[in-house]
Amino acid sequence: MLFPEGVAIDSLTGALLPSTSSYVKRVSELFGIYADAAAFAEYIAQGGDQVAYEVVDYRKAESDLSFGTTVMTPGKIGDEYFMTRGHFHVRQECGELYYTQTGLGVLLLESRGGDVRSVEMKPGVCAFIPPGWAHRSVNVGRDKLVFVWVCTTDAGHDYGEILERGMRQRVVERDRQPQIVPNLKYAP
Ligand code: F6R
Ligand code: ZN
Repeated sequence: MLFPEGVAIDSLTGALLPSTSSYVKRVSELFGIYADAAAFAEYIAQGGDQVAYEVVDYRKAESDLSFGTTVMTPGKIGDEYFMTRGHFHVRQECGELYYTQTGLGVLLLESRGGDVRSVEMKPGVCAFIPPGWAHRSVNVGRDKLVFVWVCTTDAGHDYGEILERGMRQRVVERDRQPQIVPNLKYAP
């Protein structure tokens, strides 16, 4: 049987107390998601294999709801900001919430029908991700981007499609500002 409890979330570090699991993604594990393969290779060759993001979970198999944090390091590969892999949920009826606590980001969203949207991520903004929309977060700030997510426990992550074809839009730096541009490598 599950019992209620309070979970302390550190808005600067994304730490959860208590948490049930966590993982990190290093830049080297994100091969293929950035447009500029040469810049990616150069970044790794120069010893730059830092943690791109960390995900901390509070997840109980017996509960329908789970939540956690994602903590994204600032950085760029070429002119493209650090981002998550991006995914659809396996269970297509499952949406999600992303509530930003610290930092600045862009949430890229894409429906299966090809509609594209973005939501600004900044402290106090809760992004609503409807069922059926792929989502990828991008850290466009100089500091960590920390957001709380809330999702159905068994929503599942479907990474294959986004990994294979990419998303229709990218977020790059132009004149020191983030800009959303078409993905020229998008391959449906
Ligand atoms: C869960 C969810 C987030 C992401 C996390 C990392 O459904 O959307 O917890 O899993 O921000 O992003 P991905 O999984 O795309 O690497
Ligand atoms: Zn998700």
